[in-house]
Amino acid sequence: MNLNQVLEEARLKAKEVKTSHELAELKASYLGKKSILNELMATMKNLSIEEKKTLGQQVNACKGELEEIFLLRRQEMEALEVEKRLASEAIDVTLPGKQVARGTHHPLTLVQQEIEDIFISMGYSIEEGPEVELDLYNFEMLNLPKGHPAREMQDTFYFDEVTLLRTHTSPVQVRTLLKDKGAPVKIICPGKVYRRDDDDATHSHQFMQIEGLVVDENITMADLKGTLLEISKKMFGEDRKIRLRPSFFPFVEPGLEVDVSCFACGGAGCPMCKHTGWIEILGAGMVHPNVLEMAGYDHHKFKGFAFGMGIERIALLRYGIDDIRHFYTNDIRFLKQF
Ligand code: PHE
Repeated sequence: MNLNQVLEEARLKAKEVKTSHELAELKASYLGKKSILNELMATMKNLSIEEKKTLGQQVNACKGELEEIFLLRRQEMEALEVEKRLASEAIDVTLPGKQVARGTHHPLTLVQQEIEDIFISMGYSIEEGPEVELDLYNFEMLNLPKGHPAREMQDTFYFDEVTLLRTHTSPVQVRTLLKDKGAPVKIICPGKVYRRDDDDATHSHQFMQIEGLVVDENITMADLKGTLLEISKKMFGEDRKIRLRPSFFPFVEPGLEVDVSCFACGGAGCPMCKHTGWIEILGAGMVHPNVLEMAGYDHHKFKGFAFGMGIERIALLRYGIDDIRHFYTNDIRFLKQF
């Protein structure tokens, strides 16, 4: 084999090596102790001085070229390594980010917020009260003394003689009147309430109400009616009418139940309104003089109206849900729809 062939072969082999280890082995096979070139040199002892000289020069030149071939290949491999690493570390800033699963608002929260917004736009402020309440505020000061038969309208969870889970948001009426000590009041109070009901499609031992209370001089039932009509329109559509039916709650006089004309059929009658054309949405009335007096308001000077509505009922109607228990069983498939 002549030296040119050696170089040619070395070039081809260098191209094929994949790792620096392979390259080092290849280099050793050409330039190491047992290399072809050294074998060639070993034959030199039989040659003439002249021949030795030329062959020696040729072999040295060839060694130089081989060094060059392997060096270039090493640099080439290193450059490729860098390229590969850069490619693997590259970040495409235009790619979309990872999707984070986001929760949704609970339908009851949505309805609560919507109702709050309507009242805030009408100048009401929002009050809150405790869910663990005194009998005093939940019943007594709402004109429901101990032993009053109307207490049984609301089956109560008692902790002891004086403490209970509030059965309605009306105790916040009393708390607000006591706090505001004779000044005009215009509030709503959303919150959870509890009753000893057996849970079924239309009953839950825990539910939500929004209480409303307005107390000032010269408040009349016309104010109550105007307010209820206004919120019914905002909640259920501009064409809504309302109907007030006499009813009884001990803390109001007169007491009313309020119906809104059915927003599904417009009043003609359909399954939603049980073919009556009307849907009951809340209880209301003019604040009873006893309630005003017990809280320190002069009932000759001050008059007021109050109302209480169930948030679940409105959410059931609004979203066409057929079972109140859906609100509390927290099935993600249900909750995700809102
Ligand atoms: N608190 C009453 C209930 O829960 C509703 C109501 C509130 C009625 C205010 C009249 C006035 O049934």
